[in-house]
Amino acid sequence: MTSSLHVPKGTRDLTGREVQAFAALEQVARRVFGLFHFEEIRTPIFETVDLFSRSLGETSDVVEKEMFTFVDRGERTFALRPEGTAGVVRHFIENNLAVQGDSHRLFYMGPMFRAERPQAGRYRQFFQIGSEHFGSPEPAADADTVLMMSRIFEEFGVGEFQIHVNSLGCQTCRPKHRAALLAYLKKRESELTEESRRRMEVNPLRVLDSKVDGPKLTDAPAMKDFLCSDCAAHFDLFLGLVQKETSRVEINPRLVRGLDYYTRTVFEFVSPLLGAQSALAAGGRYDDLVGMLGGPSVPAVGFALGADRVVEAHLKWRGEADKAVSNQTMAVVVAMTEESVPAAFGLAQKLRLAGFSVPPLLPAKKKLKNQLSAAVDAGAKWVILIGEDELKTGELSVKDLSTRTQTKVPQQKIISYLTGTP
Ligand code: HAM
Repeated sequence: MTSSLHVPKGTRDLTGREVQAFAALEQVARRVFGLFHFEEIRTPIFETVDLFSRSLGETSDVVEKEMFTFVDRGERTFALRPEGTAGVVRHFIENNLAVQGDSHRLFYMGPMFRAERPQAGRYRQFFQIGSEHFGSPEPAADADTVLMMSRIFEEFGVGEFQIHVNSLGCQTCRPKHRAALLAYLKKRESELTEESRRRMEVNPLRVLDSKVDGPKLTDAPAMKDFLCSDCAAHFDLFLGLVQKETSRVEINPRLVRGLDYYTRTVFEFVSPLLGAQSALAAGGRYDDLVGMLGGPSVPAVGFALGADRVVEAHLKWRGEADKAVSNQTMAVVVAMTEESVPAAFGLAQKLRLAGFSVPPLLPAKKKLKNQLSAAVDAGAKWVILIGEDELKTGELSVKDLSTRTQTKVPQQKIISYLTGTP
């Protein structure tokens, strides 16, 4: 087989139960976004490379080594979007939304692209569902974002999960923490990996994120001891609001984020059902980003969930044996002779109009036994047989696969019989 016949490394085709679960997750998310009064936005899957490097930070892993970039015929450099926030912020600034009201709340869903080293739960094309709330500096907006996310997970079903929260402070207090952290790391420089030593110079906070060095640095200066009074008050108010609504919140003073735009509140949703890549979703406040990209100074807060991981946790939690993802009742129509095909075909259309899920007819010459076992495998509730006798008498043979019984039903009464309505 030539390599062009392989799905590209780090990507996959979604089929069967998995793709059904994706669709169900999208449906739950749309409903919950509606409850919180968010509107959908669809941005392009590619933008100028510059938008991402300025938003996510030149020194973030994503910008340094994970973007899929390309040059178009006009010599402009673009990147496939590695995340959704930058494009939504670009839209907000480009359309001058700040002058059109105090608050804008948008949600999005779609594929994102990062050239990461593929492993379980980490893909090069993955799907995010996220939201961005512009215009509110209030801790209630952070709390709403966390509770909205939590609601999606509870309604969709992912089993247990924890919500880790932390504050990264603001431009006033963060430099003091950065200086103290840098001094601490300098003292321990000889114990650090080369990667951490490099990170230390550009963004010391990210050293705490290191899988190797992070756990060793237990006594590193913590941001919470450096928060200015405004940031500390913001965090306390936020905590008070979310802790009243859910017991899943844990303060994690070591929580730092891989993207540079965050200020104040950050959070991450973690599932024990996933392996090393345990983050179901993450996000936080980014009060400086709109201004930094050339827009007015507008505070904002948002999140994104990784749909691939959320679906994985959902399917593990539901258990492999549970097949019924669809809520439509399935009926299979079997034409037993060539002559009965037109009547069977017409019946299939009629059943679909009444809301039943009906697969296309199989060829009449296919053995009845095989057609029945295919219906059982597909999860059908009803099988309706039409052959010579049925054409003659106008009565259909109806099998109920859940009770394993068979009855004759007059053709004109079939819908009311199947739906149980007189
Ligand atoms: P992020 O933490 O980079 O944040 O990604 C959010 C979620 O996307 C992660 O928690 C994870 O579930 C999923 N994810 C990320 N990378 C991969 C991957 N390679 N394969 C599978 N899933 C992945 C952001 O993207 C921010 N834009 C979130 C945000 C919105 N902050 C404010 N507004």
